[in-house]
Amino acid sequence: MMEAIKTRRSIRRYKEAPVPENLLKEVLNAARLAPSADNAQPWRIIVVMDEQAKLKIAAASNSQKFIAQAPIALVICGVPDEAFPTMGGYMSAHVIDASIAMDHLTLAAHALGLGTCWIGWFKEDKVREVLGIPEDVPVIALTPLGYPAETPERTPRRNLEDLVKYERYQ
Ligand SMILES: Cc1cc2nc3c(=O)[nH]c(=O)nc-3n(C[C@H](O)[C@H](O)[C@H](O)COP(=O)(O)O)c2cc1C
Repeated sequence: MMEAIKTRRSIRRYKEAPVPENLLKEVLNAARLAPSADNAQPWRIIVVMDEQAKLKIAAASNSQKFIAQAPIALVICGVPDEAFPTMGGYMSAHVIDASIAMDHLTLAAHALGLGTCWIGWFKEDKVREVLGIPEDVPVIALTPLGYPAETPERTPRRNLEDLVKYERYQ
């Protein structure tokens, strides 16, 4: 697990080679096993393999063309109606829960030799239209899935001291 966390990278170039069905299932299963508030599991993942649909999703993602280069695009939606409604007393957990599932998925993919890249820069209404996603189901994020055709350098991270506070915020 620590190896996967340390070596995962966002992959923006993909090989044409298809993703074997059993690996796709493994990746999707990793998302299925993610924790969620009240164990509500309020997300849906759309597996997109159709070339035309992938091209439209890439276009809806501000023309990030590498999305369509991968053999698969995975689109994760949150389902507010199913989610724990008052996390911290003030918010629905659907975005957090879907994001944890997505993170499980990206780490599992990497562990299986596959690449992913979180995509948050997309136009939701356009993705919704391409995939027939209902109005009350927000699109949380998407990712290409395929064999990496690049090995990116590690990107910088803040020091622990910047991010962690002991005992009190201030
Ligand atoms: C919520 C979220 C949205 C992101 N959106 C995009 C995106 O639209 N396009 C892209 O190329 N990368 C996107 N990224 C990837 C980040 O740029 C990347 O994770 C960050 O630079 C760290 O690099 P690494 O993933 O290789 O460690 C996104 C990442 C997250 C977590």
